[in-house]
Amino acid sequence: MPLVTSTEMFRKAYDGGYAIGAFNVNNMEIIQGITEAARACSAPVILQVSKGARAYANRTYLMKLVEAAEIETGLPICLHLDHGDSFETCKSCVDDGFTSVMIDASSKTLDENIAITRQVVEYAHAHGVVVEAELGTLAGIEDEVKVAADASSYTRAEDVQEFVQRTGCDSLAIAIGTSHGAFKFKPGSKPQLRFDILEDVAKRLPGFPIVLHGSSSVPQEFVRMVNENGGNMPGAIGVPEDQLRQAARMAVCKINIDSDLRLAMTGTIRKYMVDHPADFDPRQYLKPARENIKQLVMHKITDVLGCDNKI
Ligand code: G3H
Ligand code: 13P
Ligand code: ZN
Repeated sequence: MPLVTSTEMFRKAYDGGYAIGAFNVNNMEIIQGITEAARACSAPVILQVSKGARAYANRTYLMKLVEAAEIETGLPICLHLDHGDSFETCKSCVDDGFTSVMIDASSKTLDENIAITRQVVEYAHAHGVVVEAELGTLAGIEDEVKVAADASSYTRAEDVQEFVQRTGCDSLAIAIGTSHGAFKFKPGSKPQLRFDILEDVAKRLPGFPIVLHGSSSVPQEFVRMVNENGGNMPGAIGVPEDQLRQAARMAVCKINIDSDLRLAMTGTIRKYMVDHPADFDPRQYLKPARENIKQLVMHKITDVLGCDNKI
């Protein structure tokens, strides 16, 4: 099956009260772990590539690895640009054969965000590609997206209708308390997403797919694996999975997960290195890392997102 857009995935997810997992990919083992999990669960899946991932792995390699996964699994796979920072980056991904792009102009003024999103939508739609946009800013740090914690601001529900109408975007990422990375909430505080904002947004945009970034739950078993094997991540804390389940039952159709994959991979490799100090064959530590990514994604699909058996 060729790569697909997220249109059909989101329509069914919205009506069915579940969400599609959007997992970040950077290399072959991550792509294999995610897509083997999706195949085992008969789940549609979104593989997303950041600008940093393209710079790290080389755009042609990533494209060909995703094509290989699609040939091997026969799954409906949507290939998505995560946090596109400019029209040029989005255009480059559309031209490369991505089926979905995100333009993240959320740090700009509302009018600037609308103008650049509109420009991306016009180009993408003319090429059969769908567009995710963002309103409101999340705290957190990635390679290409840096937002200080105090600069984060919830989405203003009163802006969403005008934004969607004027841009023509196909889905909308909103800020309701999630953030990027593994340190999302202060240790000891009670993580609580703003479901009132999500509900308000959903009322103003009936049937419209909402996206949740920064949705890793930071499994403590992997944090322990890191910390017990020479790493230093005390206080890492994520979004509680019951709140992700609630979001998936509401208007949220796409849930973004990257940090959990990084933790699963790094925790496993750290432990392997400590347990096997004389090994130097990369396959020996990448194999269990890939397997733990697969197990993690199967758990997300079946126990959190609810998108298993939805092909
Ligand atoms: O939200 C963004 C993802 O976690 C990607 O991060 O830019 O470091 O690849 P990255
Ligand atoms: P996490 O850092 O919570 O995994 O969020 C990933 C993300 O939003 C990718 O766009
Ligand atoms: Zn994100």
